[in-house]
Amino acid sequence: MPMARRRAIAVAAAVLLAGSVAACGNSDTGSDGAGDDGKLVLGFSQVGAESGWRTANTVSIQEAAGEAGIELKFDDAQQKQENQIRAIRNYIQQKVDVIAFSPVVESGWDTVLKEAKDAGIPVILTDRAVDSADKSLYKTFLGSDFVKEGRLSGEWLVEEKKAATGDVNIVELQGTTGSAPANDRKKGFGEAIAADPKLKIIASQSGDFTRAGGKQVMEQFLRAHPKIDVLFAHNDDMGLGALEAITAAGKVPGQDITIITIDAVKDGMQALADGKFNFIAECSPLLGPQLMDLAKKVHAGEEVPPRIETEETTFTQEQAKEALPNRKY
Ligand code: AHR
Repeated sequence: MPMARRRAIAVAAAVLLAGSVAACGNSDTGSDGAGDDGKLVLGFSQVGAESGWRTANTVSIQEAAGEAGIELKFDDAQQKQENQIRAIRNYIQQKVDVIAFSPVVESGWDTVLKEAKDAGIPVILTDRAVDSADKSLYKTFLGSDFVKEGRLSGEWLVEEKKAATGDVNIVELQGTTGSAPANDRKKGFGEAIAADPKLKIIASQSGDFTRAGGKQVMEQFLRAHPKIDVLFAHNDDMGLGALEAITAAGKVPGQDITIITIDAVKDGMQALADGKFNFIAECSPLLGPQLMDLAKKVHAGEEVPPRIETEETTFTQEQAKEALPNRKY
Protein backbone atom coordinates (compact mmCIF):
# COMPACT_ATOMS: atom_id res chain seq x y z
CA MET A 1 0.00 0.00 0.00
CA PRO A 2 1.40 3.47 -0.86
CA MET A 3 2.71 5.47 2.14
CA ALA A 4 0.19 8.35 1.70
CA ARG A 5 -2.78 5.95 1.72
CA ARG A 6 -1.42 4.13 4.81
CA ARG A 7 -1.07 7.47 6.62
CA ALA A 8 -4.63 8.51 5.65
CA ILE A 9 -6.00 5.23 7.07
CA ALA A 10 -4.03 5.73 10.32
CA VAL A 11 -5.41 9.27 10.72
CA ALA A 12 -8.99 8.11 10.06
CA ALA A 13 -8.59 5.31 12.66
CA ALA A 14 -7.27 7.79 15.25
CA VAL A 15 -10.22 10.12 14.63
CA LEU A 16 -12.65 7.20 14.98
CA LEU A 17 -10.98 6.03 18.20
CA ALA A 18 -11.09 9.52 19.72
CA GLY A 19 -14.78 9.75 18.82
CA SER A 20 -15.61 6.42 20.38
CA VAL A 21 -13.71 7.24 23.59
CA ALA A 22 -15.69 10.48 23.90
CA ALA A 23 -18.92 8.61 23.23
CA CYS A 24 -18.15 6.10 26.00
CA GLY A 25 -18.44 8.84 28.62
CA ASN A 26 -21.84 10.30 29.23
CA SER A 27 -23.12 13.46 27.61
CA ASP A 28 -21.22 16.45 28.93
CA THR A 29 -18.77 15.21 31.50
CA GLY A 30 -15.85 15.39 29.10
CA SER A 31 -15.99 19.13 28.35
CA ASP A 32 -13.69 21.68 29.96
CA GLY A 33 -14.53 24.88 31.76
CA ALA A 34 -17.80 26.06 33.20
CA GLY A 35 -20.11 28.95 32.62
CA ASP A 36 -18.39 30.47 29.55
CA ASP A 37 -21.64 32.21 28.58
CA GLY A 38 -22.29 33.44 32.12
CA LYS A 39 -24.91 30.78 32.91
CA LEU A 40 -24.90 28.90 36.20
CA VAL A 41 -23.47 25.45 35.51
CA LEU A 42 -25.00 22.47 37.32
CA GLY A 43 -23.33 19.05 37.17
CA PHE A 44 -25.90 16.34 37.77
CA SER A 45 -25.19 12.64 38.27
CA GLN A 46 -28.29 10.52 37.72
CA VAL A 47 -28.65 6.97 39.09
CA GLY A 48 -29.54 5.42 35.74
CA ALA A 49 -32.64 4.66 33.67
CA GLU A 50 -33.89 1.67 35.64
CA SER A 51 -37.57 2.62 35.91
CA GLY A 52 -40.40 4.75 34.56
CA TRP A 53 -39.93 6.91 37.66
CA ARG A 54 -36.28 7.53 36.82
CA THR A 55 -37.07 8.48 33.20
CA ALA A 56 -39.69 10.98 34.39
CA ASN A 57 -37.19 12.39 36.92
CA THR A 58 -34.53 12.88 34.23
CA VAL A 59 -37.02 14.64 31.93
CA SER A 60 -38.13 16.89 34.81
CA ILE A 61 -34.52 17.89 35.57
CA GLN A 62 -33.57 18.49 31.93
CA GLU A 63 -36.69 20.54 31.18
CA ALA A 64 -36.42 22.58 34.37
CA ALA A 65 -32.76 23.40 33.69
CA GLY A 66 -33.71 24.75 30.26
CA GLU A 67 -36.55 26.80 31.71
CA ALA A 68 -34.36 28.20 34.50
CA GLY A 69 -31.55 29.18 32.10
CA ILE A 70 -29.13 26.79 33.81
CA GLU A 71 -26.45 24.92 31.86
CA LEU A 72 -26.88 21.26 32.79
CA LYS A 73 -24.07 18.75 32.59
CA PHE A 74 -25.78 15.37 32.86
CA ASP A 75 -24.33 11.93 33.52
CA ASP A 76 -26.17 8.58 33.64
CA ALA A 77 -24.33 6.30 36.09
CA GLN A 78 -26.05 3.09 34.99
CA GLN A 79 -26.78 2.20 38.61
CA LYS A 80 -23.08 2.03 39.53
CA GLN A 81 -21.64 4.00 42.44
CA GLU A 82 -18.16 4.09 40.86
CA ASN A 83 -19.63 5.85 37.80
CA GLN A 84 -21.28 8.45 40.03
CA ILE A 85 -18.04 9.09 41.91
CA ARG A 86 -16.20 9.46 38.59
CA ALA A 87 -18.82 11.91 37.30
CA ILE A 88 -18.66 14.00 40.47
CA ARG A 89 -14.86 14.14 40.23
CA ASN A 90 -15.17 15.28 36.61
CA TYR A 91 -17.55 18.03 37.67
CA ILE A 92 -15.07 19.14 40.37
CA GLN A 93 -12.28 19.22 37.79
CA GLN A 94 -14.46 21.24 35.42
CA LYS A 95 -15.18 23.71 38.26
CA VAL A 96 -18.96 23.62 37.80
CA ASP A 97 -20.91 26.02 40.03
CA VAL A 98 -23.09 23.43 41.78
CA ILE A 99 -23.15 19.62 41.89
CA ALA A 100 -26.34 17.63 42.42
CA PHE A 101 -26.79 13.89 42.47
CA SER A 102 -29.18 11.12 43.36
CA PRO A 103 -26.99 8.60 45.20
CA VAL A 104 -27.53 5.03 44.04
CA VAL A 105 -26.69 3.66 47.52
CA GLU A 106 -26.52 5.37 50.92
CA SER A 107 -22.93 4.61 51.99
CA GLY A 108 -19.47 5.45 50.72
CA TRP A 109 -19.73 9.11 49.70
CA ASP A 110 -17.68 10.94 52.35
CA THR A 111 -14.40 11.12 50.41
CA VAL A 112 -15.82 12.53 47.18
CA LEU A 113 -18.16 14.88 49.04
CA LYS A 114 -15.17 16.21 50.97
CA GLU A 115 -13.33 16.76 47.69
CA ALA A 116 -16.27 18.87 46.45
CA LYS A 117 -16.37 20.82 49.70
CA ASP A 118 -12.62 21.48 49.60
CA ALA A 119 -13.05 22.76 46.02
CA GLY A 120 -15.75 25.15 47.26
CA ILE A 121 -18.52 23.56 45.15
CA PRO A 122 -21.88 23.24 46.93
CA VAL A 123 -23.60 19.85 46.65
CA ILE A 124 -27.35 19.15 46.63
CA LEU A 125 -28.75 15.66 47.18
CA THR A 126 -31.92 14.90 45.23
CA ASP A 127 -34.29 11.97 45.55
CA ARG A 128 -32.05 9.76 47.73
CA ALA A 129 -30.05 10.43 50.87
CA VAL A 130 -26.52 9.48 51.98
CA ASP A 131 -25.62 8.18 55.44
CA SER A 132 -22.69 10.59 55.99
CA ALA A 133 -22.44 11.72 59.61
CA ASP A 134 -20.98 15.06 58.51
CA LYS A 135 -24.02 17.03 57.33
CA SER A 136 -21.80 19.94 56.23
CA LEU A 137 -20.76 17.87 53.20
CA TYR A 138 -23.97 18.85 51.38
CA LYS A 139 -26.28 21.85 51.47
CA THR A 140 -29.65 20.17 51.38
CA PHE A 141 -31.54 16.99 50.57
CA LEU A 142 -34.61 17.34 48.34
CA GLY A 143 -36.79 14.24 48.06
CA SER A 144 -39.51 11.95 49.37
CA ASP A 145 -39.96 10.44 52.79
CA PHE A 146 -39.43 6.79 51.83
CA VAL A 147 -40.15 5.49 55.34
CA LYS A 148 -43.54 7.17 55.17
CA GLU A 149 -44.28 5.58 51.77
CA GLY A 150 -43.59 2.15 53.25
CA ARG A 151 -45.61 2.92 56.34
CA LEU A 152 -48.64 4.14 54.36
CA SER A 153 -48.49 0.95 52.29
CA GLY A 154 -48.36 -1.20 55.43
CA GLU A 155 -51.16 0.71 57.14
CA TRP A 156 -53.41 0.23 54.11
CA LEU A 157 -52.69 -3.52 54.22
CA VAL A 158 -53.45 -3.80 57.94
CA GLU A 159 -56.88 -2.24 57.27
CA GLU A 160 -57.48 -4.29 54.10
CA LYS A 161 -56.77 -7.62 55.84
CA LYS A 162 -58.43 -6.75 59.13
CA ALA A 163 -61.15 -9.37 58.71
CA ALA A 164 -58.89 -12.09 57.23
CA THR A 165 -58.51 -15.28 59.26
CA GLY A 166 -55.25 -17.22 59.44
CA ASP A 167 -51.80 -16.11 58.29
CA VAL A 168 -51.51 -13.58 55.47
CA ASN A 169 -48.35 -14.47 53.54
CA ILE A 170 -46.49 -11.48 52.08
CA VAL A 171 -43.63 -11.49 49.59
CA GLU A 172 -41.53 -8.36 49.21
CA LEU A 173 -39.70 -7.16 46.10
CA GLN A 174 -37.02 -4.82 47.41
CA GLY A 175 -35.38 -2.03 45.44
CA THR A 176 -31.64 -1.80 44.80
CA THR A 177 -29.72 -3.29 47.72
CA GLY A 178 -28.25 -0.59 49.95
CA SER A 179 -30.32 2.22 48.41
CA ALA A 180 -32.23 4.63 50.64
CA PRO A 181 -35.65 3.81 49.14
CA ALA A 182 -35.12 0.06 49.60
CA ASN A 183 -33.90 0.44 53.20
CA ASP A 184 -36.55 2.96 54.19
CA ARG A 185 -39.59 1.44 52.46
CA LYS A 186 -38.77 -1.91 54.03
CA LYS A 187 -38.50 -0.28 57.43
CA GLY A 188 -41.75 1.72 57.18
CA PHE A 189 -43.75 -1.23 55.85
CA GLY A 190 -42.35 -3.62 58.48
CA GLU A 191 -43.17 -1.23 61.30
CA ALA A 192 -46.75 -0.74 60.08
CA ILE A 193 -47.61 -4.41 59.60
CA ALA A 194 -46.21 -5.26 63.03
CA ALA A 195 -49.60 -4.00 64.26
CA ASP A 196 -51.16 -7.28 63.09
CA PRO A 197 -49.25 -10.51 63.86
CA LYS A 198 -51.07 -12.50 61.18
CA LEU A 199 -49.32 -10.39 58.49
CA LYS A 200 -46.09 -12.29 57.78
CA ILE A 201 -43.29 -11.51 55.30
CA ILE A 202 -42.34 -14.99 54.07
CA ALA A 203 -39.80 -13.91 51.42
CA SER A 204 -37.95 -10.70 50.60
CA GLN A 205 -35.46 -10.16 47.79
CA SER A 206 -34.13 -7.38 45.56
CA GLY A 207 -35.46 -6.93 42.03
CA ASP A 208 -33.18 -3.88 41.57
CA PHE A 209 -36.14 -1.57 40.79
CA THR A 210 -36.45 -3.03 37.25
CA ARG A 211 -39.30 -4.84 35.48
CA ALA A 212 -37.01 -7.69 34.49
CA GLY A 213 -35.82 -8.05 38.09
CA GLY A 214 -39.39 -7.99 39.41
CA LYS A 215 -40.50 -10.70 36.98
CA GLN A 216 -37.55 -12.96 37.66
CA VAL A 217 -37.73 -12.75 41.47
CA MET A 218 -41.52 -13.14 41.47
CA GLU A 219 -41.12 -16.34 39.42
CA GLN A 220 -38.80 -17.67 42.14
CA PHE A 221 -41.23 -16.65 44.88
CA LEU A 222 -44.10 -18.42 43.11
CA ARG A 223 -42.05 -21.59 42.66
CA ALA A 224 -40.95 -21.64 46.30
CA HIS A 225 -44.20 -20.63 48.03
CA PRO A 226 -47.53 -22.26 47.15
CA LYS A 227 -49.53 -19.73 49.21
CA ILE A 228 -48.78 -16.07 48.49
CA ASP A 229 -51.50 -13.63 49.54
CA VAL A 230 -49.78 -10.28 49.12
CA LEU A 231 -46.97 -8.75 47.07
CA PHE A 232 -45.33 -5.57 48.34
CA ALA A 233 -43.11 -4.19 45.53
CA HIS A 234 -40.85 -1.22 46.29
CA ASN A 235 -41.75 0.35 42.93
CA ASP A 236 -44.27 0.11 40.08
CA ASP A 237 -41.82 -1.34 37.58
CA MET A 238 -41.03 -4.40 39.70
CA GLY A 239 -44.76 -4.82 40.33
CA LEU A 240 -45.42 -4.66 36.59
CA GLY A 241 -42.76 -7.29 35.93
CA ALA A 242 -44.26 -9.45 38.69
CA LEU A 243 -47.68 -9.24 37.00
CA GLU A 244 -46.30 -11.26 34.08
CA ALA A 245 -44.98 -13.96 36.42
CA ILE A 246 -48.27 -14.10 38.36
CA THR A 247 -50.40 -14.39 35.22
CA ALA A 248 -48.07 -17.03 33.77
CA ALA A 249 -48.51 -19.02 37.00
CA GLY A 250 -52.29 -19.07 36.39
CA LYS A 251 -53.14 -16.60 39.18
CA VAL A 252 -55.21 -13.43 38.91
CA PRO A 253 -53.23 -10.35 40.03
CA GLY A 254 -55.22 -8.02 42.26
CA GLN A 255 -57.54 -10.86 43.29
CA ASP A 256 -55.59 -14.04 44.13
CA ILE A 257 -52.66 -11.86 45.17
CA THR A 258 -53.13 -8.36 46.63
CA ILE A 259 -50.50 -6.07 45.09
CA ILE A 260 -49.11 -2.91 46.69
CA THR A 261 -46.47 -0.80 44.92
CA ILE A 262 -44.82 2.62 45.20
CA ASP A 263 -44.34 5.46 42.64
CA ALA A 264 -47.66 5.96 40.78
CA VAL A 265 -46.17 6.36 37.29
CA LYS A 266 -48.68 6.09 34.43
CA ASP A 267 -48.20 2.36 33.78
CA GLY A 268 -48.58 1.60 37.49
CA MET A 269 -51.69 3.76 37.72
CA GLN A 270 -53.13 1.98 34.68
CA ALA A 271 -52.58 -1.40 36.36
CA LEU A 272 -54.28 -0.04 39.49
CA ALA A 273 -57.24 1.35 37.54
CA ASP A 274 -57.50 -2.03 35.73
CA GLY A 275 -57.74 -3.87 39.06
CA LYS A 276 -54.36 -5.62 38.72
CA PHE A 277 -52.73 -3.60 41.50
CA ASN A 278 -54.63 -2.79 44.72
CA PHE A 279 -52.82 0.20 46.22
CA ILE A 280 -50.00 2.61 45.32
CA ALA A 281 -48.13 5.04 47.56
CA GLU A 282 -46.98 7.95 45.42
CA CYS A 283 -43.35 9.00 45.03
CA SER A 284 -43.04 12.12 42.90
CA PRO A 285 -40.21 12.30 40.33
CA LEU A 286 -40.97 15.92 39.42
CA LEU A 287 -38.05 17.40 41.34
CA GLY A 288 -36.57 19.51 38.51
CA PRO A 289 -38.08 22.95 39.24
CA GLN A 290 -37.27 22.81 42.98
CA LEU A 291 -33.75 21.58 42.24
CA MET A 292 -33.06 24.51 39.88
CA ASP A 293 -34.38 26.95 42.45
CA LEU A 294 -32.11 25.45 45.12
CA ALA A 295 -29.10 25.47 42.77
CA LYS A 296 -29.55 29.21 42.23
CA LYS A 297 -29.90 29.83 45.95
CA VAL A 298 -26.87 27.84 47.09
CA HIS A 299 -24.79 29.38 44.30
CA ALA A 300 -25.80 32.82 45.56
CA GLY A 301 -24.74 31.78 49.07
CA GLU A 302 -28.30 31.90 50.43
CA GLU A 303 -29.29 29.67 53.34
CA VAL A 304 -31.59 26.78 52.36
CA PRO A 305 -33.41 24.30 54.64
CA PRO A 306 -31.31 21.15 55.22
CA ARG A 307 -34.24 18.89 54.27
CA ILE A 308 -37.02 19.56 51.74
CA GLU A 309 -39.70 16.92 51.55
CA THR A 310 -41.76 16.21 48.42
CA GLU A 311 -45.54 16.34 48.74
CA GLU A 312 -47.17 13.01 47.99
CA THR A 313 -50.41 11.06 48.27
CA THR A 314 -51.72 7.48 47.93
CA PHE A 315 -54.10 5.85 45.43
CA THR A 316 -56.75 3.14 45.62
CA GLN A 317 -58.22 1.59 42.45
CA GLU A 318 -61.09 4.10 42.36
CA GLN A 319 -58.77 7.07 42.91
CA ALA A 320 -56.47 5.83 40.13
CA LYS A 321 -59.37 5.77 37.65
CA GLU A 322 -60.07 9.42 38.46
CA ALA A 323 -56.44 10.59 38.44
CA LEU A 324 -55.23 8.68 35.37
CA PRO A 325 -56.46 11.02 32.60
CA ASN A 326 -54.46 13.91 34.05
CA ARG A 327 -51.36 11.94 35.04
CA LYS A 328 -48.27 13.68 33.60
CA TYR A 329 -45.72 10.85 33.88
O1 AHR B 1 -35.33 6.70 44.40
C1 AHR B 1 -36.61 6.61 43.88
C2 AHR B 1 -36.86 5.24 43.35
O2 AHR B 1 -35.91 4.93 42.35
C3 AHR B 1 -38.18 5.01 42.68
O3 AHR B 1 -39.19 4.65 43.55
C4 AHR B 1 -37.85 3.87 41.78
O4 AHR B 1 -38.82 3.61 40.81
C5 AHR B 1 -36.57 4.39 41.23
O5 AHR B 1 -35.88 3.56 40.45
